[in-house]
Amino acid sequence: MSKTLAAITGVHGYVPDYIMTNAELETMVETTDEWITSRTGIKERRVLKGEGLAASDMGKEMVQGLLEKTGTAPEEVELLICATITGDRVFPDTANTILDKVNAKNAFGYDINAACSGFLYALTTGAKFIESGTYKKVVIVGLDVMSSILDYTDRSTCIIFGDGGGAVLLEPNEDGFGIVDSVLKADGNGRQYLNMEAGGSLKPTSAETVANGEHFIHQEGRTVFKYAVRGMSETIKDVLDRNNMDKGDISWLIPHQANIRIIQSVANALDFPMEKVIVNIEKYGNTTAGTLPLCLWDFEDQFKKGDNIMLTAFGGGFTWGSTYLKWAY
Ligand code: COA
Repeated sequence: MSKTLAAITGVHGYVPDYIMTNAELETMVETTDEWITSRTGIKERRVLKGEGLAASDMGKEMVQGLLEKTGTAPEEVELLICATITGDRVFPDTANTILDKVNAKNAFGYDINAACSGFLYALTTGAKFIESGTYKKVVIVGLDVMSSILDYTDRSTCIIFGDGGGAVLLEPNEDGFGIVDSVLKADGNGRQYLNMEAGGSLKPTSAETVANGEHFIHQEGRTVFKYAVRGMSETIKDVLDRNNMDKGDISWLIPHQANIRIIQSVANALDFPMEKVIVNIEKYGNTTAGTLPLCLWDFEDQFKKGDNIMLTAFGGGFTWGSTYLKWAY
């Protein structure tokens, strides 16, 4: 019998109904569909609209759908980890609000704040509880409501991001299917290039921080772009080397959906064919912690049992990494 791995045994995504097209953004900031499409690959993104709706409402949709699809009763869930930077509140965390909303009374939960790498951090952490034999049903959620921290007068950020995400169920597998290896990295010095300055203990929200727009996302796009390509390419290579694998062994590369040019640059750096690279950025933009589970959900029908899948991400922190898994169904 091989070592116990944590296998993904189901995935369910959710995006809000409202579609914000590039044409709509043309009416809000000085930009064009042509610029956005050619510089980012994005055609449209989803926006959560509706009084009182927040991250946990999207999380509820994802987790309820996941539990129904996998035939799991809410009370069977033992742990839920939610990767997000746009939780309902600074505290309490959104994981526990989601558990409450889906009526999962026997679980505990917590949030992970690793921006666009959040899903990989959460997946890797959750897998350890399965591998160690501690738990048998762990739910990993990756979602963001980026519209809640976007400045819709800043054309360099508002065109990129969208709302959405997904959830996966992790269960033990003794046959070699599941999460095999991860290389995760962080460099806190990157906080100057991608952040939201106010609202924490450094700069508590005040009339001044609001007037300065410091409750919105701030990004130095060109710098982030360079670090993202390097970080994702290097950690993919690290994972391949550690597992005595070659790029030809990868069935699917699933990169964080930040910019089509970043994705193409990573594929180029690895000399990896774009036909095996999963892309849905044109529909959803960058949903931060939501992109990877949304890709798994969108392309689930194409995966076969035993496929070698490489997930890779880069985000605020800086945080980055790659995870290799064998698809289990
Ligand atoms: N429409 C039209 N022009 C725009 C624009 C928009 N929406 N946004 C920026 N521009 C302009 C700039 O003002 C600049 O004009 P200038 O040359 O007259 O100064 C020009 O386009 C080029 O700007 P630059 O920032 O160099 O563009 P870019 O090609 O780097 O694209 C990003 C900008 C943000 C799309 C790109 O840098 C990016 O995707 N970065 C990584 C973002 C990311 O992945 N973030 C999430 C974490 S992973």
